[in-house]
Amino acid sequence: MGQLDGKTALVTGANSGIGLATARRFAAEGAYVFLTGRRERELDEAVKSIVDAGGSSAVGGVTGIRGDVSDLGDLDRVMAAVAERGQGLDVLFTNAGGGSFLPLGEITPEHFDETFGTNVRGTLFTVQKALPLLNEGASVVLAGSTAAGKGTPAFSVYGATKAAIRSFARSWAAELADRGIRVNAIAPGPTETPGLRGLAPTPGQAPALLTAMARQVPLGRLGTPDEIAAAVLFLASDQSSFITGSELFADGGANQT
Ligand SMILES: NC(=O)c1ccc[n+]([C@@H]2O[C@H](COP(=O)([O-])OP(=O)(O)OC[C@H]3O[C@@H](n4cnc5c(N)ncnc54)[C@H](OP(=O)(O)O)[C@@H]3O)[C@@H](O)[C@H]2O)c1
Repeated sequence: MGQLDGKTALVTGANSGIGLATARRFAAEGAYVFLTGRRERELDEAVKSIVDAGGSSAVGGVTGIRGDVSDLGDLDRVMAAVAERGQGLDVLFTNAGGGSFLPLGEITPEHFDETFGTNVRGTLFTVQKALPLLNEGASVVLAGSTAAGKGTPAFSVYGATKAAIRSFARSWAAELADRGIRVNAIAPGPTETPGLRGLAPTPGQAPALLTAMARQVPLGRLGTPDEIAAAVLFLASDQSSFITGSELFADGGANQT
C-alpha cells in the first residue's frame, strides 16, 4: 500500500531538484502525478525518469504539462488538463520558484518583479486556480525556505518572498479549513539541487559556495532532494491529518540551533 494510493497530485516546477524528487516519490507512493515546468525537454525527461523508476509496479500515472506559474494563461491550461482527468486534486505542491543574490543598493525592479512574480504571484494564482479542483480533505504544501526567517546578505528579496509564502500558509489554512483542506509550508535548508548550485556566480565557484553553506548546517552537510521529498510526503499524506497552517523545517538544524 502506497501512502498516496488512488490520489491525484500536482507538483509545479517538477523537472528539477526538489520538485522532481517529490513527484517521483509521490508516484512511487501510488499517486497519479501532474508535473509542470517551463523547459519542455527537461519536463519530458522528468516524466520518462518517473515512468522508468516505476518499472512493473507502474505508478498511478504521470503527465507533464509545460507551463510558467507566473503566466495566468499557462496556469489555466494546467488546471484544464487536471480537470480533464475528472478526479480533482488531492495534493498540490507549489514548488516552482527560485532566487538569486543581489545586495541592497543593487536591487532592480526586474529582480524584484521576477522573484516575486514566480515565488509569490505564482504560488498565489496556482492555489487560487486549483481551488475548484481541490477535493475535500486535500493537502496543499507550499515551498517556503529557511531564508524566510533568517537574514542572509544579498538574499533579501528571495527571503521576503518566502516570508510571504509562510504567511499564505497561515491565512489559507484558516480559509480552507471548512472544506477539510489543509495548507502547510515546507521550509528546506540548503539542499543540493541545480537551483542551489545556480546561486554561484560561475559554475566553477559552486563547489566552494556549497561547502560554505554545508558548514552553516548543524548536521554538517547539505540536504538531499529525497530528504525534502520525504518531508513533503508527510505533509501531503494522511500521516499529517491534524496539521495545518504550520511550517515544517527540513533543514539539518540550520534555523533551529
Ligand atoms: N535548494 C535549496 O537549497 C532550497 C532551499 C529552500 C527552498 N527551496 C525552494 O524549493 C523550490 C525548488 O528549488 P530547487 O532548489 O529544487 O530549484 P531548481 O533545481 O532550480 O528547480 C526549480 C524548479 O522550478 C521550476 N520553475 C522555476 N521558475 C518557474 C516558473 N516561473 N514557472 C514554472 N516552473 C518554474 C524549474 O523549471 P523550469 O526552469 O523549466 O521552469 C524547476 O523545475 C523553490 O521554491 C526554492 O525556492 C530550495
